[in-house]
Amino acid sequence: MTTFWSLYVTVLTLGTIFALAWLLFATRRGQRSEATDEKVGHSFDGIEEYDNPLPKWWFMLFVATFIFALGYLALYPGLGNWKGLLPGYQEVTDGKPFANGQPGWTGVHQWEKEMAKADEKYGPIFAKYAAMPIEDVAKDPLALKMGGRLFASNCSVCHGSDAKGAYGFPNLTDADWRWGGATADIETTIKGGRHAAMPAWGEVLGDQGVHDVAAFVTTKLDGRKLPEGVTDEQVANGQKIFSTNCVACHGPEGKGTAAMGAPNLTHPAAFIYGSSFAQLQQTIRYGRQGQMPAQLERLGADQVHLLAAYVYSLSHGEGEKSAE
Ligand code: HEC
Ligand code: HEC
Repeated sequence: MTTFWSLYVTVLTLGTIFALAWLLFATRRGQRSEATDEKVGHSFDGIEEYDNPLPKWWFMLFVATFIFALGYLALYPGLGNWKGLLPGYQEVTDGKPFANGQPGWTGVHQWEKEMAKADEKYGPIFAKYAAMPIEDVAKDPLALKMGGRLFASNCSVCHGSDAKGAYGFPNLTDADWRWGGATADIETTIKGGRHAAMPAWGEVLGDQGVHDVAAFVTTKLDGRKLPEGVTDEQVANGQKIFSTNCVACHGPEGKGTAAMGAPNLTHPAAFIYGSSFAQLQQTIRYGRQGQMPAQLERLGADQVHLLAAYVYSLSHGEGEKSAE
């Protein structure tokens, strides 16, 4: 902070405190010390005010806040460039510069210290699991507990606390995988994130084309009846459209291609945007771009490894219990 801003902050902060202290004492001086039944003279909806001084305990409470504020500002760095008197907060750096290159106490430094401490404590545990194959980590109760915690704080906002997903977010506990369910696939997904690109077909196929291909997709869903009014010719037309435009990504059987994140279209539970006739047409007409955010930079490789094991466990026995 430049000297100007440092002074600005200092003068403003101390000025406010002293101005308030002055206000407290100045208004008190004019008051009687005895209780009275005289009124101040105003009335609001019939409610009047006695002209009594502040109760002493209340007044002392105010004084205490001033003393606290001044003490705090002396001990901790709150006034511009003042570093505070407390030794821990003055210390420059113990050889290692803080990330922002500044000496002294700041919230960032405090956080970095705590992280460093945590790394020291948990680092070896993470390192142990990082060296194990995911299948083995997925059988270790402690690893699953840690993975579950990481999942709760980093993933559950989107995938749900039970990892069962929601509209637009895939279920991670079932056998349907958009990007592959092998351990390596899951780890790659979490590390680098995934950007799905389902093109919009409205312009290309027109309303009738979208309608027909959606009808064809419906026939591929186990035991699903065709919507009323849909004719066999329309379904046949939809099948043609499908083999021309959709198989490249969704595969000849419509069972999906993990390399593209194109989901299985023969299994209603695998749909994240809904499998009703109306929802299918909506998806096909406008396209979909699901985004799984990359985690490697945020969490580091070791935590991603644990998370991959946790996610893997959810559909492979062990974790089914801990997900409940
Ligand atoms: C370029 C590859 C590609 C092509 C071509 C393509 N899709 Fe998709 N499709 C995807 C991807 C990727 C997703 C997943 C989108 C997401 O997760 O946000 C998807 C999702 C869908 C879904 C939604 C599934 C769900 O989870 O709710 C439907 C329905 C669908 N596609 C139907 C079609 C039809 C019908 C065609 C042909 C007209 C088609 N797709 C062509 C890549 C493709
Ligand atoms: C901002 C929301 C969001 C967060 C946070 C998030 N995800 Fe995702 N995740 C998604 C979306 C959306 C998809 C589906 C992408 C697509 O459409 O293909 C996805 C897909 C996945 C998949 C692939 C599923 C499949 O069927 O192949 C895995 C595995 C996964 N996420 C794990 C995680 C883990 C572990 C975390 C926590 C570190 C996490 N996600 C955090 C939104 C999120």
